[in-house]
Amino acid sequence: MSFEPRIIGLIVYSHTGNTLSVAERLQQELLGRGHRCDLFRLQIEGDSKPGLKHYEFSSLPDLTVYDSLIFASPVHGFSLATPMDSYFRGLVTLQGKLVSLFVTHHFPFAWLGGNRALSQMRTHIVTRGGIVGEAGVINWSNRKREQEILQLVEQIGGQYASLKQ
Ligand SMILES: Cc1cc2nc3c(=O)[nH]c(=O)nc-3n(C[C@H](O)[C@H](O)[C@H](O)COP(=O)(O)O)c2cc1C
Repeated sequence: MSFEPRIIGLIVYSHTGNTLSVAERLQQELLGRGHRCDLFRLQIEGDSKPGLKHYEFSSLPDLTVYDSLIFASPVHGFSLATPMDSYFRGLVTLQGKLVSLFVTHHFPFAWLGGNRALSQMRTHIVTRGGIVGEAGVINWSNRKREQEILQLVEQIGGQYASLKQ
């Protein structure tokens, strides 16, 4: 039996750094488990503005090299943050890739916007042919936030642990 490392792209939009901080911990976990994991923070051109639906990004990662992807975003206005939504709309295909996802939001419970944002991301992934993997919400003002982060990192990080015969 041999371990099969994954080549994982971790694509993050983070306005104030919360989502990025979780993504960095997840990246360390995946590297520690022997996978390759490249983290890209999407940077928008100009400022995010209420009502703006289309964003340009200063650079875009080439997703073709990754067999697995993880997308992460904050929740804005009880929905997926519009820069991340705009990024998804620009993606042509995720065909055959295992795609995991998480969001962070301020409220203490996932049903206050986090689940809706995950659902929007799932739709983007499925309509582009991706295979939806593990998913989670970090409720930033929940007193168990640290536990939630540890659980998410284990949940997403652990799904690649398959051993090849
Ligand atoms: C414009 C804007 C809208 C937001 N709307 C919500 C919201 O509807 N629900 C919520 O729980 N948090 C909301 N937040 C808080 C963020 O989702 C939360 O702080 C998140 O962890 C930020 O992630 P980031 O630091 O990666 O940008 C909003 C933040 C901003 C800046």
